[in-house]
Amino acid sequence: MGRLHVLDHPLIQHKLSLMRDKNTGSKEFRELLEEIAMLMAYEVTRDFPLKEIEIETPITTMKTKVLTGRKVGVIPILRAGLGMVDGILNLIPAARVGHIGLYRDPETLEPVEYYCKLPTDAQDRELIVIDPMLATGGSASAAITFLKQRDCTDIKLACLIAAPEGVRRMRKDHPDVDIFVAALDERLNEHGYIVPGLGDAGDRLFGTK
Ligand code: PRP
Ligand code: URA
Repeated sequence: MGRLHVLDHPLIQHKLSLMRDKNTGSKEFRELLEEIAMLMAYEVTRDFPLKEIEIETPITTMKTKVLTGRKVGVIPILRAGLGMVDGILNLIPAARVGHIGLYRDPETLEPVEYYCKLPTDAQDRELIVIDPMLATGGSASAAITFLKQRDCTDIKLACLIAAPEGVRRMRKDHPDVDIFVAALDERLNEHGYIVPGLGDAGDRLFGTK
């Protein structure tokens, strides 16, 4: 069973509190999301395998470790997932980026797909699906189903804030996927928004409301 990791490092908690504040504007919101994504990437990659190599320092030869294993793919769910891409690429600059476009129908809350462009070798990569909000879990679950239909097997999910409903949905649909969140909030409201949450992540990122 995949694990739920709540990354409650003090720097992450502090920056997330600033993001939640309704008086924080788009510029600061974007900067904070990128910074938190970078801090989260540090934990999401904790189990990456290493191999031993020999190098020469200016002083002597030594055995040391470098990353081995699969190459990485970062998969933002559009739109709001875009806000986490640069933070992760800061730490994993060689990662390829694949985009999955989904929006949540405001009436049914069901995800509707409108775009997909993945690296051609996505199935050989370790994939990190990113989206700031895991609310009903419909969007993340649909994106991951989509990846699995394309033979991707090595998938993690990183979100800023999750509702218990979204975590349950992911557990049911994708029990193999590890989930990384900065905070697990109380619940969803009647419109499917996370409470207390931070409002509409896409609108706050891009200033569309
Ligand atoms: C938001 C968010 C997630 C989704 C979460 O996107 O970024 O993708 O809702 O909700 P769910 O867990 O109930 O599916 P939205 O549909 O608002 O699209 P946007 O990113 O384009 O604003
Ligand atoms: N999408 C958002 O952007 N925010 C929520 O609280 C729920 C879904």
